[in-house]
Amino acid sequence: MTTETLMQVASRSSVVLCCGSGGVGKTTASAALALAQMRTGRRVVVVTIDPARRLADALGVTGELGNQPTLLSSENGGELWAMMLDANETFANLVQGYSSDSAQVERIVTNRFFRNISSSLGGTQEYMAAEKLFELHNDPRFDLVVVDTPPTRKALNFLDAPGRLVRFLDHRLYRVLLAPARGGLRVVAAAVTPIVRTIARVVGASVVDDAIAFFQAFEGMDEGFRARAQQVTQTLTSPTTSYVVVSSAQKEALDEAQFFINRLKTENIATAALIINRLTPDFGVSSDTQTTNNFPALAENANRLAQRAASERLSIAPLVAAVSPSPVVYLSLLPHDVADHQALSLLADQLS
Ligand SMILES: Nc1ncnc2c1ncn2[C@@H]1O[C@H](COP(=O)(O)OP(=O)(O)OP(=O)(O)O)[C@@H](O)[C@H]1O
Ligand SMILES: [Mg+2]
Repeated sequence: MTTETLMQVASRSSVVLCCGSGGVGKTTASAALALAQMRTGRRVVVVTIDPARRLADALGVTGELGNQPTLLSSENGGELWAMMLDANETFANLVQGYSSDSAQVERIVTNRFFRNISSSLGGTQEYMAAEKLFELHNDPRFDLVVVDTPPTRKALNFLDAPGRLVRFLDHRLYRVLLAPARGGLRVVAAAVTPIVRTIARVVGASVVDDAIAFFQAFEGMDEGFRARAQQVTQTLTSPTTSYVVVSSAQKEALDEAQFFINRLKTENIATAALIINRLTPDFGVSSDTQTTNNFPALAENANRLAQRAASERLSIAPLVAAVSPSPVVYLSLLPHDVADHQALSLLADQLS
């Protein structure tokens, strides 16, 4: 039996993460939930990891959202803030936080190897997302952080991203590169070790030089990173962090939603709520004989809608059962995109 509503789940959470497949309405649902929570008097920040400007659109913001939260509106003592993750900037800020030596920070953030790993290497984006979430979670300006994840199965990879960073710091290559510097030897000592020579042949000597320079500049900061990674993991798995799966009633979306529910299960996390978006409204009436005779086209339309509404409700039943006893919320398909406050407000009302 369902004991809680989505709003009750959100109200006792300090972080809510919305995930699901492409185009189902993750960004829209995140914005609507943030708005609904703000109206209860909470100070909410909604953060998107998706580089597209969809969150700004859903919130009706005309300007750009940046890597720092922007206050959009306030009501009943609550506040609604929004921001868009910039992984590079987050990494740079993180490095700054661990070093009081501005020359060291400069050496790291201007390093080509750093620039490459912070923008492209698998896992860095996810790690920075987790890092930003942790930062916002500890920011006294906010009671709740709502996270809009990108449309990829990898969206939940940040669950183990902090662990991956620690494994990276423990990696043999990292140790090989850093060890000579620690022993007081010159950079060149690392460059001539057999393993580094082999890597240099594959990726190019300048990449290796950059990497060595990066790790040497990084020296002394790895312990701080390790401890931080542990705290980030604690936040992601805390009972006040809730994972909400968003889906439409279409088969592919439902299959993907099941994937996310299973993925969370492998981390021992229960899906806190399910949002079914873009649902065909069920008007609960089918055409009577008089309408059918007088307005056959209208009657046919109404019947088709009623059939679609009924079949959607059948298709979602297994997913509803899969998340039970967690709450399920239905958002109806609006006749237009959600790109202004009024439309978002309508959906926020349906969540409340
Ligand atoms: N209930 C709804 N009624 C009508 N249009 C909707 C509804 N929910 C979302 N939309 C529209 O559908 C489109 C996709 O929504 P949204 O961007 O929120 O999905 P998403 O899951 O975040 O997509 P992506 O996977 O690309 O990040 C947008 O144009 C949005 O305005
Ligand atoms: Mg989106």
